[in-house]
Amino acid sequence: RGGNACDIVVFGGTGDLAMRKLLPALYYLHRDRHLHPQTRILALARARHEPEAYRRLVRRHVSQHVASADFSEDSWGSFSARLDYMPLDISQRLEFARLARHLGDSPGRVRVFYLATLPDLFAPTALHLHGAGLADDQARIVLEKPLGESLATARRVNDQIGSVFDESRVFRIDHFLGKEAVQNLLALRFGNALFEPLWRNGHIDHVQISVLETVGVENRGAYYDQAGAMRDMVQNHLLQLLCLVAMEAPVHFEPEAVRNEKLKILEALRPITGMDVQDQTVRGQYSRGRRAGETLPAYYFEKSVDHDSNTETYVALRAEIDNWRWAGVPFYLRTGKSLAQRKSEIVIQFKSVPHRLFPGTTPEGNRLVIRLQPDESISLSLMAKSPGRGMALQEVELDLHFDEAFKRRRWDAYERLLLDVIEGDATLFMRRDEIEAAWRWVDPIIGGWQEVYRSPKRYAAGSWGPEAADSLLERAGHAWFDERGD
Ligand code: BG6
Repeated sequence: RGGNACDIVVFGGTGDLAMRKLLPALYYLHRDRHLHPQTRILALARARHEPEAYRRLVRRHVSQHVASADFSEDSWGSFSARLDYMPLDISQRLEFARLARHLGDSPGRVRVFYLATLPDLFAPTALHLHGAGLADDQARIVLEKPLGESLATARRVNDQIGSVFDESRVFRIDHFLGKEAVQNLLALRFGNALFEPLWRNGHIDHVQISVLETVGVENRGAYYDQAGAMRDMVQNHLLQLLCLVAMEAPVHFEPEAVRNEKLKILEALRPITGMDVQDQTVRGQYSRGRRAGETLPAYYFEKSVDHDSNTETYVALRAEIDNWRWAGVPFYLRTGKSLAQRKSEIVIQFKSVPHRLFPGTTPEGNRLVIRLQPDESISLSLMAKSPGRGMALQEVELDLHFDEAFKRRRWDAYERLLLDVIEGDATLFMRRDEIEAAWRWVDPIIGGWQEVYRSPKRYAAGSWGPEAADSLLERAGHAWFDERGD
């Protein structure tokens, strides 16, 4: 790796994402010699910083966000020599001519335009880049999520961007796909002969996909209150995880092959409409609560959130995939903020054995748990004989912890994905039709919520979410796989 020299231009260069994720990721790529020596990074934002003042700001953030052993004056010195800053107001078309002059004429040099901005600015930025002659064949544009807030708005943005950037040069990022553990899911499924024959409705009882967070909305109230958990997490991250669990083996590990398979899953999702919205989905919002002795605020008291807000901070739902492999297997999805525990995991619950051989024990179906966060692990529960007389069976776990198996630094998702953009590899990025298929499925659910019951169910901050999310599974004889304390 290392690639060709390129210009990485970050719009939203003073924002949260740039400071917390993008610049630390670029620092690591630089330190580990994955960037070409001539590669330059130009950050843009409205603030009128001098480049030197901007570098000081970045230094503060990067030194906080990378492991302290990984931050050295040497690496910082050479990294900051690549880093430049220019004030730019995206709404001003003419400022893009200044940007073009700043970048200069460099034929053949790849240019990555990373839009770490509010989604409203995606289309205007793309059009202005085009106007300034910057959307040429060497340019790639990276769009953060959420892209649109419905199918109609996503289409409009995609149309506008597509009018100046060819699809092959549009990289729609979903940083979950850059997580090591998520890619490990593909390795597990398609690099081992063991699981795939069982990976279907004949053997799998149900699947759970959970992305639980302990944080509230932090400083993102203004954005989040418009979006809510469905648009912020389910439409993208959770559905992408579902696709990776459910898709057929692609013929190659290449962009179109992988994305074609994911798209088929999104298209096979059974629509949730009408009364099913009430039966199959749960929408929650956190109220005041406690975790570990600390009082946690209600959502509607968070900064920049409307006091009467009906926005959901929690979603649980039951999805079904109408295809040969998955007919009849429920996929339970849930995500929420300000919960009891931070964890992201995929649980594959296998069916139990068809015949009970050992009296007195109820054999549980095997369970494969793929943990993405906070630690990366895969564990498989097996029934084993408990020591001593008789044949009493007991569940035991086979555990694989990746930090023990591979004693190497884990890359952050953004490192991997930024390098993929630089190298032009779109395998882990979302294609236009995927995004739109996901919205097509999500829209009627959001529509149903608006029509049927406006207010979300309350759950205490620091808890496991609304009780209705538990009953959603109980009704089918299932339960969330959590280790809940009292
Ligand atoms: C982002 C969402 O895409 O993902 C956030 O906008 C969420 O609301 C975040 O907190 C979770 O990502 P990670 O990598 O911290 O699990």
